[in-house]
Amino acid sequence: MRELKNDRYLKALLRQPVDQTPVWMMRQAGRYLPEYKATRAEAGSFMDLCKNAELACEVTLQPLRRYALDAAILFSDILTIPDAMGLGLYFETGEGPKFERPIKSAADIKALPVPDPEQELGYVMNAVRTIRSALDGEVPLIGFSGSPWTLATYMVEGGPTKTFSKIKKLIFSEPALAHVMLDKLADAVTLYLNAQIKAGAQAVQIFDTWGGVLSGPAYREFSLKYMEKIVAGLIREHEGRRVPVVLFTKGGGLWLEDIAASGCDAVGLDWTIDIADARRRIGDKVALQGNMDPSMLYAPPAVIEQEVARILAGFGQGPGHVFNLGHGIHPDVDPANAGAFIDAVNRLSRSYHG
Ligand code: CP3
Repeated sequence: MRELKNDRYLKALLRQPVDQTPVWMMRQAGRYLPEYKATRAEAGSFMDLCKNAELACEVTLQPLRRYALDAAILFSDILTIPDAMGLGLYFETGEGPKFERPIKSAADIKALPVPDPEQELGYVMNAVRTIRSALDGEVPLIGFSGSPWTLATYMVEGGPTKTFSKIKKLIFSEPALAHVMLDKLADAVTLYLNAQIKAGAQAVQIFDTWGGVLSGPAYREFSLKYMEKIVAGLIREHEGRRVPVVLFTKGGGLWLEDIAASGCDAVGLDWTIDIADARRRIGDKVALQGNMDPSMLYAPPAVIEQEVARILAGFGQGPGHVFNLGHGIHPDVDPANAGAFIDAVNRLSRSYHG
């Protein structure tokens, strides 16, 4: 196995000293890049792109060719697991992800299989192996999954929702049944992430995009508990290095202490929390990742730079910070503004280290 040339991202997640704050962007491969749109058109559909290891590798590397990023993230989607469970994932333009066969009954939940990651999800592992080899040790590769709660919301709602009525009806009226489903999803995610680690992912992130729509007690019972179960089942050492785990709950700012106590190495922050407060609350326990509002990338470069400076100062001196956006980059952002963001982090963060 080749040496990693740039391991700032892995070191920062373990709160080890670095020369500057590492940076990457959630959803860094995507529609804001014209070269992504071209490869996506070549592939046909989004799922065809995910299933073609060479093209998935190509779009993973595209943002790294443009920007001085400290990590690559596997090109795939969180909804690969429900698709492998037989729900039939498809995308309708402008409407977001949908399922042909959403979960509608207790029988559907009981019949849900736990997919074998090397079989039904073998295409993801092929992509991981292809990307890892193409990266040639330049930067680490991040693997990822959705949280059981976030996957369950899509599986039960069947498509985008503003109210989360169906999934909330399930957890509040038939909690035991909801737990059967979440437990299967936790097993599926654990197997899936461990397979990604064995295939070459050097860190893993769990996206809990919809954790923040729950009350505190419901979050702990229906989301955090299952992420804890996953963290406890993950491979934590591979190829002679620790494999850091990052938990990102959008809207999780109220529960940082609980998230940090899950056994994870780092907590991903959305932009609604002040990173200085987050560091005071948990920065001596785990690393922090975040947290610029992705909409700041609509602003001119000088404003972006000021905001980067504010967040760097908020975290303050020393290791334990991975710079990121507080959620995924928007598709209509000017790629030059993303460049200004990354350059600002690289330039301004050096004085916070060493
Ligand atoms: O970060 C990366 O660059 C890696 C790839 C990645 C994608 N999706 C690619 C993608 C990652 C990490 C995800 C995670 C994901 N997918 C999440 C969690 C993160 C978050 O944003 O909260 C969620 C909720 C999904 C579900 C999903 N998949 C949505 C909401 C969409 C957008 C649908 C739309 O039409 O806007 C997708 C599709 C998707 N996943 C795209 C990409 C680049 C766009 C598909 C296209 O090319 O048309």
